Amino acid sequence: MAEYCTVVTGASGGIGGAVVERLAAAGRKIVAVGRDKNALEGRFGPAAGVFTLACDLSSPGAADLLAVEIKTRFDGVEGFVHAAGSDIPAPLGMISAAAMQEMFAVHAVFPLLFLGWMVKKGNHAPGASAVLISSLAAHEGAKGHAAYAAAKGAVEGMLKPAAAECAVKGIRLNAVVPGIVRTKMSKKWMDCLAPASLSELEKSYPFGFGTPEDIAAAAAFLLSPDARWISGQTLVCDGGRTM
Ligand SMILES: NC(=O)c1ccc[n+]([C@@H]2O[C@H](COP(=O)([O-])OP(=O)(O)OC[C@H]3O[C@@H](n4cnc5c(N)ncnc54)[C@H](O)[C@@H]3O)[C@@H](O)[C@H]2O)c1
Repeated sequence: MAEYCTVVTGASGGIGGAVVERLAAAGRKIVAVGRDKNALEGRFGPAAGVFTLACDLSSPGAADLLAVEIKTRFDGVEGFVHAAGSDIPAPLGMISAAAMQEMFAVHAVFPLLFLGWMVKKGNHAPGASAVLISSLAAHEGAKGHAAYAAAKGAVEGMLKPAAAECAVKGIRLNAVVPGIVRTKMSKKWMDCLAPASLSELEKSYPFGFGTPEDIAAAAAFLLSPDARWISGQTLVCDGGRTM
């Protein structure tokens, strides 16, 4: 019987880690991708069904490297969740080209190349599904996040045409659009806010800030057969902020 894997990037981070834990508990074989092998092994250890792989996804050959590793261990891919990435905040006039290139490479270029491999040579499973993690930052006007929002806007811009090509091969492609989720990434800027400002901000989320598990639940749904009729869509998960 063919053995298929689900590839999860950002696996040592908040959202990616929660996705790995949820999918592994449901019995999927996972390729957990992160930058730091020690952090990945520290988090998942010899957890059943989790194969860890260290790779800098901003490097030009990342999608090819991942493809080679997957091919040596599995017959193909049944799921892909792209949760790697960072926000390098800077106001207009202080955004560096290098920071923009880094964010575009990780958020948009890597997943498009990896999806290309899945479609062309990935030997994907019947019912295969992919989920890209975007951000509410691409829909709101938060100062200092223009470059990050542009990279996430690229993710959502490519979603429908890429989903159309994936559909020809029977692969579904969707995006989850999280509002603020408590992780290492958001802690960096939360720590710079006065407690009163943070509390005001959280009040604009009727159901509070999110947890990584909230986003993992949405990603798991979109991967599952329950979502078999959903493709090319963005699922906003923001505790009701934009309702
Ligand atoms: N936390 C939030 O409030 C929030 C909101 C909206 C969207 N997001 C998005 O969710 C995703 C996950 O973020 P998170 O909150 O879990 O952050 P996190 O910092 O906890 O995890 C992100 C992970 O991505 C990895 N990563 C970053 N650059 C990489 C690279 N070049 N190669 C390989 N790995 C790389 C990091 O090492 C880290 O483990 C990101 O795409 C982020 O933009 C987060």
